[in-house]
Amino acid sequence: MKKIYLRIISAALAAAVLLTGCSSRDLQYAYDDDAPSIAETFKDYFRVGAAVNSWDIADPNSNQCKTILKQYNTLVMENESKPENLHPEEDRYYFDTFDKFVDFCNENDIVARGHTLIWHSQVPGWFFKDGNEDASAELLLQRIRDHVTTIVSRYKGKVSTWDVVNEVIGDDSQLRFSDWSRIVGDYDGDGDKYDFIEEAFRAAHEADPDARLIINDYSLESSSSKAIRMYNAVKQMLSEGVPIDGVGFQMHIGNGIDYEAMKENFKIISRLREIDPDFIIEVTELDVNCYGWGEEKKDVELTKDFLEQFSKTYTDVFKLMMELSDEGILDSVVMWGLHDGVSWLNDGHQNYPMLIDKDLKLKEAYYDVLELVE
Ligand code: G3I
Repeated sequence: MKKIYLRIISAALAAAVLLTGCSSRDLQYAYDDDAPSIAETFKDYFRVGAAVNSWDIADPNSNQCKTILKQYNTLVMENESKPENLHPEEDRYYFDTFDKFVDFCNENDIVARGHTLIWHSQVPGWFFKDGNEDASAELLLQRIRDHVTTIVSRYKGKVSTWDVVNEVIGDDSQLRFSDWSRIVGDYDGDGDKYDFIEEAFRAAHEADPDARLIINDYSLESSSSKAIRMYNAVKQMLSEGVPIDGVGFQMHIGNGIDYEAMKENFKIISRLREIDPDFIIEVTELDVNCYGWGEEKKDVELTKDFLEQFSKTYTDVFKLMMELSDEGILDSVVMWGLHDGVSWLNDGHQNYPMLIDKDLKLKEAYYDVLELVE
């Protein structure tokens, strides 16, 4: 009789698991003392990090801060180190917040990334103006040099990696038409308009020769034409001696990414090793959007199938990252946000893009990813 009861109870539990999509795993909070650590688990492959904001690290006793210290060994600021925040006016820099972030990282043995020196977005308009007129190419190049030199030299030896330029290739896989490229143009007359990029990298390298300098962009994993364009641009600049150390794959991906295509696109950029044997790739802004890009959003249902797909997407990505690490070309993977509740992807609809949920609980997918490491 007892056996029959037990069977009924376990069948009921199994049915509940199937219906709710939950497993029997005991999900822990990311900050729990006995919770696993993703950074610790992958330490022989790559650093694992997150984009955070100043308030996340302000109180060492907060669960956010405890999560950060437990789970990550590299960090980047989500917004507060962008040009509009660090350098809103030509003669004024606001270093306070980023100073605190960098100190926090250095005190806790965390690798600090700087995001980003040059971008077409979140950049103050003064860069491009001279009175009421457009700045000249000379003036803009001088401003790029001053901006980059002032920031990078201040954090010399403390910020080890900079996203020097961000998103300079457009959706059409051409050099992005921006105020930077429009005004500086082909200043040196060599037939390309990479001159503003070159100036930024050269200034950054002169300011801190040991810093790792990254050219960062999105959709490189999914668009082969964009990956090829990035390859050609970097190849050209490397041949001119521009000190680019690596390409950053942002990796804002969808649930159910095409694994083979992703692998092929990483291969395209990996071929830059034929030119510079030390060339590297970083994953800089990983998250998994639970809605299709541009699709009309109805609140997503966390069905069993959906969650399995979500888990597969993350495990596929980490599997590939481990392979790239084995090849010696990748040593850093950064997630774009601390948990679901604060992701930039929550634009009116709740999104679930991270491995940690809005209550700072570890998800099934988190544990699945960790299981990749024996
Ligand atoms: O700070 C202002 C605040 O003063 C104002 O009241 C409020 C009203 O909307 O806006 C606040 O600014 C917001 C800012 O984030 C800081 O929270 C902006 O509206 C908002 O657009 C901005 O979004 C950021 C976005 O970059 C801007 O392009 C996201 O948080 C940030 O996650 C996102 O990060 C980018 C990476 O830098 C580059 N790659 C893509 C990635 C995702 O878009």
